[in-house]
Amino acid sequence: MATKKELEGEVFYPSEQVMAQARVKDWDALAKKADKDFTGFWADEASELEWFKKWDKVLDDSNKPFYKWFTGGKVNIVHNCIDRHLKTHRKNQLALIWESEDGRETRSFSYFAMNREVTRMANIIKAMGVRKGDRVTIYMGRIPEIAFAMLACAKIGAVHSVVFGGFSADALRGRIEDSDSKLVVTQDGNFLNGKIIELKRTVDEAVKKCPSVENVLVIRRTGHEIEMDPLRDHWYHEMEKLPIANGKCTTEEMDAEDPLYILYTSGSTGKPKAVLHVHGGYMVGIYSTLKYVFDAQDGDRYWCAADPGWVTGHSYIVYGPLLVGATSFMFEGGPAYPYPNRWWQCVERYGITILYTAPTAIRGLMRFGEAWPNKHDLSSLRLLGSVGEPINPEAWKWYHRVIGKERCPVMDTWWQTETGMFMITPTPVMPLKPGSGTKPFFGIRAEILNDAGEPVKDGDEGYLVITRPWPAMLRTIYGDAERYVSQYWSKFPGKYLAGDSARRDADGYYWIIGRVDDVINVSGHRLGTAEIESALVSHPAVAEAAAIGLPHEVKGTGIHVFCLLRAGIVPSDALSEELRQHVSKVISPIARPEEVKFLDKLPKTRSGKIMRRVLKARMQGLPEGDLSTLED
Ligand code: WT7
Repeated sequence: MATKKELEGEVFYPSEQVMAQARVKDWDALAKKADKDFTGFWADEASELEWFKKWDKVLDDSNKPFYKWFTGGKVNIVHNCIDRHLKTHRKNQLALIWESEDGRETRSFSYFAMNREVTRMANIIKAMGVRKGDRVTIYMGRIPEIAFAMLACAKIGAVHSVVFGGFSADALRGRIEDSDSKLVVTQDGNFLNGKIIELKRTVDEAVKKCPSVENVLVIRRTGHEIEMDPLRDHWYHEMEKLPIANGKCTTEEMDAEDPLYILYTSGSTGKPKAVLHVHGGYMVGIYSTLKYVFDAQDGDRYWCAADPGWVTGHSYIVYGPLLVGATSFMFEGGPAYPYPNRWWQCVERYGITILYTAPTAIRGLMRFGEAWPNKHDLSSLRLLGSVGEPINPEAWKWYHRVIGKERCPVMDTWWQTETGMFMITPTPVMPLKPGSGTKPFFGIRAEILNDAGEPVKDGDEGYLVITRPWPAMLRTIYGDAERYVSQYWSKFPGKYLAGDSARRDADGYYWIIGRVDDVINVSGHRLGTAEIESALVSHPAVAEAAAIGLPHEVKGTGIHVFCLLRAGIVPSDALSEELRQHVSKVISPIARPEEVKFLDKLPKTRSGKIMRRVLKARMQGLPEGDLSTLED
């Protein structure tokens, strides 16, 4: 039982009802057991899933930091997401419910129907020449077919690379090229906030310069006019009618360590890099975390409101809910269109029991006031979740009180694209402190270190590291193993460097402070200063640029940039606006700076590195710190 020891600060204890429902009531006991024998814990979790052949070894650490999990095991994540349920009562339960942005369309799929759709898509993808190990880029909005496409790739052993539908043609091209994809799956367009996002047109522009792409598969969603290249482009609804689409498709037997997907994310230097995840360990990690943290059970209506284009969507919209046999809800639109009650309408309409979203969405909805959620019956909710950035205690309490009616615990889950699964997170029975993700998940060990690699005192800030491997960990950076080692395992040899700073309080609770590297977290989206700066420098007026993040009421952090113009170019408001547009076009509207300032000189170290912290301090009117390395 949770001890009655008084915890420090503001604490929310689980209600009797939550305790009564919880799968694991004694958190401490399981945490201790898993800590003592972490490979044993993960083996037990893996045993709850089906393997074509059982593994020989749970963890192979003979070539650190290239850890391998469940080696010798044969498996396919899709077998566990879909095939396995067809032999049980789940066959006719709902796997996915979808609602269109305008609310006029609902589509729902049982596990049986999921299998039919995924099989069909898999047959079509195969017919386009895609084989085991080939990469497929998926560039889509939130419609069921994005899940079918991902699962179809996994089913035949192809490696998917989902690119968020908000990225520009340039960003998409870079990712298609880097992954050397043969096939791109997209849709004609995507409805968002009452407008059409031109997905196919963006693909056309991107693919012009990508010789690897042989085929483009297009799902019809908006029905507006687009161009189709008769040799390269294929309508999905036409392919669907071919006999080849409707035969059986066996789920490929994969090695546990075979790649499942790559997903691009921003780092502190250079271009975004592709994080690689595999079939076996990744499956075990997300299955176990979703099971314990959201306590998802048969009959739950689970809604992760992220986009499938981010890791949150991969792990906890597409794969996770199917692994635990839940019913997942997907909504095409955004939270406040046409009115700020759109989400609450969905909660009421479908009886959502678990809602998982991001602090930026909560802050955004909070601004519209309580009247909007109060119009709706939210009594079906049982658990809430948060991810993407530290949640402000104010937003946490609003979410807990106004949405959860003080009845639903808030699971603040800290993790990353690289970790694949929740790493620091409560389970429903833990006493909660608003703003803290509480403690490492079962079997996970974290530490907070100073620059010298020594653990800091409780309460002090330091680098967050993970000191033990975990099954859903990234295996490498696709095509750049050296960067995998240097970025994550070199600062403190043998320890995984998360890139975040954090502190731990006297109760052992972790508080994430934010990125310590040159990554800016805008509304839970990661952007590297390097990426933003190179976008600016690609504009003919700009000689040099520096990007920093400053607090923003809704986005958490907003991007502010400083530009040094080329000789003869005169600063103006019009140019400033043009540069904001330019970044938005080169990367994505997410990366659009709040503000562009012009300087005659950027603060630099003597070795020529831009001192972004100096710009940041100046902007915030804070002390500029140690300036001994400043050029002059
Ligand atoms: C970075 C990872 C994992 C899904 C979303 C983002 C920040 C994420 C939390 C949280 C405080 C958080 C960290 C992390 N972050 N969740 N609950 N509390 N910070 O994935 O794009 O890989 O970004 O997001 O800074 O390093 P990502």
